[in-house]
Parts: sequence; structure tokens; C-alpha cells
Amino acid sequence: MERAVIAIDGPAGAGKSTAARMLAERLGYVLIDTGALYRAVALAAEERGVSWDDGPALGALASELDLVFATPEPGARPPLLLDGVDRSGDIRAPHISQGASRVSAHPAVRAALLGVQRRMGEGGGVVLEGRDIGTVVFPGADVKVFLTASPAARARRRCAELRARGVDADEAEVEAEIVERDTRDASRDVAPLRPAADAVQLDSTALPLDAVVTRLVDIVRQAGFSAR
Ligand code: DC
Repeated sequence: MERAVIAIDGPAGAGKSTAARMLAERLGYVLIDTGALYRAVALAAEERGVSWDDGPALGALASELDLVFATPEPGARPPLLLDGVDRSGDIRAPHISQGASRVSAHPAVRAALLGVQRRMGEGGGVVLEGRDIGTVVFPGADVKVFLTASPAARARRRCAELRARGVDADEAEVEAEIVERDTRDASRDVAPLRPAADAVQLDSTALPLDAVVTRLVDIVRQAGFSAR
């Protein structure tokens, strides 16, 4: 049976990363967390003294980096190797979230990462999670889902995630950061955050995670692909 390319797009904190990971596990597919690639560019820029506002320099940097996802432990996200080193923890720092959003607005960065994402997904059997997968990276994806939730629900979940990692988090602050990031991601000129015309829109505000995953599996089945 043919293995699908599945695009899961949506704003920060809609539950995409956990739902996409669980869907990939259910299907026996590889998860590609495309936000991690933008985060890696922001981290590498910070460490090399490249400004998050310098589009051309960031584009050159992004095309030089060696970005690879390693095979994950069961139940974990695939570790991101940046130039051969596992930087999965470092790319999750809150200031790198803002940095990733800033660097991702530069066309040169998006162009550099487009080829990387297409190469990672071209064989199928993949769940790609991001902002523009269904619109730009794989406009011909077999399954497209746009996952949203209210900003307050997203802030609540993001805080719970941060606290679980031992990071102190204030819900009002996290919500303000989420709204700031959404506004920037949705208003940029290149590949803005928006649902593809043919995406299934799923609002997870009132849905627990397992219900979201069940719904995703149903959507994949309805498209003619089966879970293992
Ligand atoms: O999904 P995330 O929070 O790890 O993404 C970090 C930032 O990267 C996000 O604010 C915008 C950018 N991004 C993007 O522009 N396109 C993608 N496909 C994925 C992420």
C-alpha cells in the first residue's frame, strides 16, 4: 500500500507536535518537525553572531547547516542533529521560539529550508508538522490537516509543557507570546500561516489529545490510507 505524505499545520501550541507524533507512531511513519529546522537556524545564528534580522546572511547560514533528524526513542520526538550534535533541548528555549519565528519570516531562510523539507518527505510514509506544509512545502500532500485552538487553550497547554520540563511559566505571558508569534507567522509575505484550501480544519480547544489523535487517524483512513 502506498505510504502517504501527511501535512499537519497550525499555530503554536494547538497540540500539533504531540498529536503529530502520536499519529506517526500509530501509522509507523516518520515524524518531521519542521519548526525544529527554523529553531536550529535561530540557534546557530545566535551562536555565530548572525542577527535574526539579517535575511541574506541567515539564508546563507541555513543552506550551510547540516540538519538531520535521528531515530527517536519510542514515545519521544526525533532528536534534531545540528552539524552532527543533538541540540534538541537547546532549540526549545523560549527565546529561540521567538528567534525561529523571526528568522522564518526571511524568504532566503524559507528557500534554504524548502529543499531540506522536501528531501526529508519525498519518499512518503511521513507526517510533517509545521505552518506551510500543505500550502507550500507539499501542496500535493495526500492528507492535510489544519489544527487550531483558542489562544487561551494553547497558552494553558504550552505552560503545562514548560512546567513539566521544570521551566517556570506564567500563562498570561505565554499567551501574549503566542499571539505575538501567530501574528508574525500569519502576516509575513512568504508562506504565511494559513490553512490550505483543501485542508481539514480541526479545532482542538475542547478536545483532549487522544480524541484529536483518533480524529486524525479517521481522516487518514478516509483518505484511503490505513494505520498499521
Ligand atoms: O512549531 P514551532 O513552534 O517549533 O515553530 C517555530 C517557528 O518556526 C514558528 O513560530 C514559525 C516557524 N515555522 C515556520 O515558519 N514554518 C514551519 N513549517 C514551521 C515553523
